Amino acid sequence: MATTIITKEQWAESEKFITKLKEVNIRFAQQNGRMRLAHTETYGCQQNVNDTERIRGMLDKAGFGFTDDAKEADLVIYNTCAVRENAEQRVFGRLGILKHIKETKPELIVAVCGCMVQQEHICEKIKKVHDHVDLIFGTHALYRMPELLYRTITENETVVDITNSDGAICEDVPILRDRAEKAWVSIMYGCNNFCTYCIVPYVRGRERSRKPEDILNEIKGLVANGTTEISLLGQNVNSYGKDLDTEIDFADLLRMVNDIEGVERIRFMTSHPKDLSDKLIYTIRDCDKICKQLHLPLQSGSDKILKDMNRHYTKEQYLAIVEKLKKEIPGITLTTDIIVGFPTETTPDFRETLEVLKSVRYDNIFSFIYSRREGTPAAKLDFALSDEEIHKNFEEMLEVQNQICLEKNLEYKDKIETVLVEDVSDTEPTILTGRNDGGKLVTFAGDASLKGKYVKVKITKPKQWSLEGELQ
Ligand code: SAH
Ligand code: SF4
Ligand code: F3S
Repeated sequence: MATTIITKEQWAESEKFITKLKEVNIRFAQQNGRMRLAHTETYGCQQNVNDTERIRGMLDKAGFGFTDDAKEADLVIYNTCAVRENAEQRVFGRLGILKHIKETKPELIVAVCGCMVQQEHICEKIKKVHDHVDLIFGTHALYRMPELLYRTITENETVVDITNSDGAICEDVPILRDRAEKAWVSIMYGCNNFCTYCIVPYVRGRERSRKPEDILNEIKGLVANGTTEISLLGQNVNSYGKDLDTEIDFADLLRMVNDIEGVERIRFMTSHPKDLSDKLIYTIRDCDKICKQLHLPLQSGSDKILKDMNRHYTKEQYLAIVEKLKKEIPGITLTTDIIVGFPTETTPDFRETLEVLKSVRYDNIFSFIYSRREGTPAAKLDFALSDEEIHKNFEEMLEVQNQICLEKNLEYKDKIETVLVEDVSDTEPTILTGRNDGGKLVTFAGDASLKGKYVKVKITKPKQWSLEGELQ
């Protein structure tokens, strides 16, 4: 399916509303002696984080200031996630709290956007149960936010836009990032895979790739502003370029990014095992700036469950990829996603997943208990196991993996790692944190002025979740 490109003219329409919002906000500032303040909260994946950066980019241009404290804000925007029920419940909980705040502060504007509200039943529920929400817009309406927000502020009525355009790309939305040294760059949007448990393809639309020149220009702009680490984002980066007119695949794009002067580190996520080519493995191996790290979601180690999940690979195929990765790129850091308690999963199926964890020995796993998503094929299936059995399996898996995490980290003892310094510890201002090439968290004593720099750290005390070390 062809990707709809939001034209310059369509964006120019949106931009007019940025100007109008700015006028309204200037009047607000004159009357109140301060800027109108926005507070944003993001749930879900890095793509959502990147979307919030666009929302903040538009708000910034429209003359909003920002606050970390929702109680101080004039506008609260929740950018939501629909991937599991608990992410949705957290947002409903938050909306409940905002209701009280709004009782004492009726001029507060409450907006909910993103994946969760792209589902019609959720949108209806918000309208019914949380009538203090003023603005609801889905993932496809992001670039129209200025107009929607302008209408919310000036017309004083609830504005809703969850229309589903089969996916579009708008290149002109400004992005406001809050850290300089590293940046998320979306290279594609949407997903075509329809794993049977997953809501993402329904709320994000079909796969569509940004043009390489747009991606490269964005990265060059970031580098000019001091960014050195680039993380390329997509639900399935390995199918990048399939929908473009030009002959290009993800490995080609990686090489182009590797050639940009000033880029020091390249990471990417997520790689779907079914589309991981040998060419990509060799590209990771051969390009000096690509971190030797891969997040490769397994989901399950049982062929039956993988089939029921519609994942399009077998355990054997997955393990063959891992073997090749380890052979070609010795020391590569591997992480994965696992779902425990998929409806048809039995305990023997679960045991097969455990066996894969023990044989691959991931550096870390992100594990989730299956959450039923309305409208997905798996939602109709009956459960083979009870809740209690699923939780027991989940706990067992964590125990197995925790031990592996510690053992993998112990291998770093006395090694000298290159670390990009990212943060100063909240509790101890002399402690810095950063990440090594493999993406592991490293903590060490140092001066805050090192933030954004690459330093050498000798690992003295590997722990389960991080590596403690000394600046060299
Ligand atoms: N596109 C990525 C992941 C997107 S969602 C991929 O294919 O790997 C991130 C993770 O959430 C998934 O890898 C999966 O492990 C988990 N997930 C997705 N839907 C879920 C559900 N209904 N219940 C529990 N976990 C789920
Ligand atoms: Fe969801 Fe599967 Fe697409 Fe990942 S690849 S977003 S798990 S449907
Ligand atoms: Fe969640 Fe949407 Fe990302 S459902 S995981 S925020 S794509």
